[in-house]
Amino acid sequence: MTTLIDDFNRRVRYVRISVTDRCDFRCVYCMSEEMTFLPRAQILTLEELSMVARAFVELGVEKVRLTGGEPLVRRGIEQLVDEIGSLGLADFAMTTNGAGLVKHAKALRDGGLKRLNISLDSLDAEKFRQLTRTGDLHKVIDGIRAARDAGFERIKLNAVVLKGRNDDEVVDLVEFARREALDISFIEEMPLGDVSDHSRAETFCSSDEVQELIEARYPLLPTTESTLGPSRYFRMADSDSRIGFISPHSHNFCSTCNRVRVTVEGRLLLCLGNEHSVDLRAVLRRHPGDMDALKTAIIDAMPLKPERHHFTTDGDVQVVRFMNMTGG
Ligand code: GTP
Ligand code: 5AD
Ligand code: SF4
Repeated sequence: MTTLIDDFNRRVRYVRISVTDRCDFRCVYCMSEEMTFLPRAQILTLEELSMVARAFVELGVEKVRLTGGEPLVRRGIEQLVDEIGSLGLADFAMTTNGAGLVKHAKALRDGGLKRLNISLDSLDAEKFRQLTRTGDLHKVIDGIRAARDAGFERIKLNAVVLKGRNDDEVVDLVEFARREALDISFIEEMPLGDVSDHSRAETFCSSDEVQELIEARYPLLPTTESTLGPSRYFRMADSDSRIGFISPHSHNFCSTCNRVRVTVEGRLLLCLGNEHSVDLRAVLRRHPGDMDALKTAIIDAMPLKPERHHFTTDGDVQVVRFMNMTGG
């Protein structure tokens, strides 16, 4: 089988597919307050999304993650999960804000989705509302529990830590994860899109600072466990919950990068922090149903994958594209 290998000898085993740029939240680090969304004709159809996933699986990809925006606001998401769920992937996951899980968790599980990462930045309803601008904390907590009841195991929380906004809640979030038997990853904010709400230079909080806050209460033991993603995992002596750190600034992980993304418009993006891309939508629409043409376009894109991102924490926007185009 042809596999996907880039010019730095990194094998691509993981594809993140964004199924919508829309979201029912407006998280301050991810979107601007007044966001406009793409017209329908510009985004991939469910059939196109399914074909893209199949092409990657035929090229040796073992892990597919559906992202957004918020994937659960895409009409037909359950059908798409059914189709990708039948491809026999080692890992099939979704990153969601959790608000739609009471409604969708069971169907996602039945459709073959294996794992869920759920964003949760605060346990204080008012602060949660400020960070998400429109989100309802209780709906998300109900969603997390609905996912567990539906049979999802090793649910992982994602918390982006912003100094002065939610860094005082790091230990509370760990304790919530322990109580609910969840994993949790703490993420350094990345400079994608001009978010205007805050100065990223002022809110930057490094993973080492977060780790120190946790270790004051719970000693962390390093592990070599991996989910094929960027998280470095630690364990606590008296809990099954894993603590992860995603540290694009302070512990660069590009040398072991194994992933690419497909944006909601069908742009195959070779790196989150760069613009190198290939227009798969053009291939899909020029040669409808032609799997070979699609796979060739993907293989030919590999030499475009850059060695690394060049994010800095000085507050400048380094990538104009907002996070909701790629789902992170
Ligand atoms: P697991 O499968 O559980 O390991 O999840 P994941 O970390 O791969 O995916 P998730 O969608 O939960 O992403 C968590 C954070 O990691 C988000 O903020 C992503 O933007 C970030 N992230 C994922 N992959 C990359 C990457 O290749 N580069 C950078 N800079 N950030 C990434
Ligand atoms: N920096 C870091 N993480 C981000 N996310 C969204 N925007 C950013 C950003 N600017 C996170 C979300 C979600 C994941 C897909 O990416 O919180 O958990
Ligand atoms: Fe890979 Fe780019 Fe992410 Fe680095 S920033 S890990 S090269 S996708």
